Amino acid sequence: MAQQIDTNRSGDPGSFLTGYRWIATVFALLMIIQAFLGMSGFVNAKEGQVTMHEMLANLMFLLAIGQAVLAWLLYTRKVTVAMPGLVLNGVLVLLTIAQIGLGYAATSGENFGDLISLHVPNGVLLTVVSTSLAVMAWQVGGRRSAA
Ligand code: HEM
Repeated sequence: MAQQIDTNRSGDPGSFLTGYRWIATVFALLMIIQAFLGMSGFVNAKEGQVTMHEMLANLMFLLAIGQAVLAWLLYTRKVTVAMPGLVLNGVLVLLTIAQIGLGYAATSGENFGDLISLHVPNGVLLTVVSTSLAVMAWQVGGRRSAA
């Protein structure tokens, strides 16, 4: 549904939009790095890479929250983010929490194989959702609308 930027409202939709676009892009790119670190760290038994994977996981949690907050701000100001995009941002937060939970549960529990077998496909799902959000964020022009 087409929506116009309303620059008369409080806040600066331009800054919110720029931040939203870049956070969405960085999150999607970090998924590739995470896939490498997680698998390489495990297969090659490189503890340092697993630690980096864990640290990036915490950063990605904060990014997902920040992205969802910006999506909400843009939605309430009727700028580029409509309800489907807002809901997808909520899904991203939930999938990220699930991913971190599965990762820690796998490495600290007894069912490593079963839990990592859920962790990896959930990572694929996260890649699809985060890439879709990043593409949607950049598709719209500054003064035009969005999905
Ligand atoms: C497709 C992408 C991903 C793959 C293939 C992957 C793979 C793995 C593997 C193999 C491990 C076990 C490492 C080991 O014990 O040696 C692991 C652990 C973990 N993963 Fe991932 N992962 C991916 C994405 C993510 C993402 C996106 C997050 C969070 C946003 C995440 C969070 C974690 C956490 C928190 C651990 C536990 C680390 C620890 O206990 O030190 N992973 N992952």
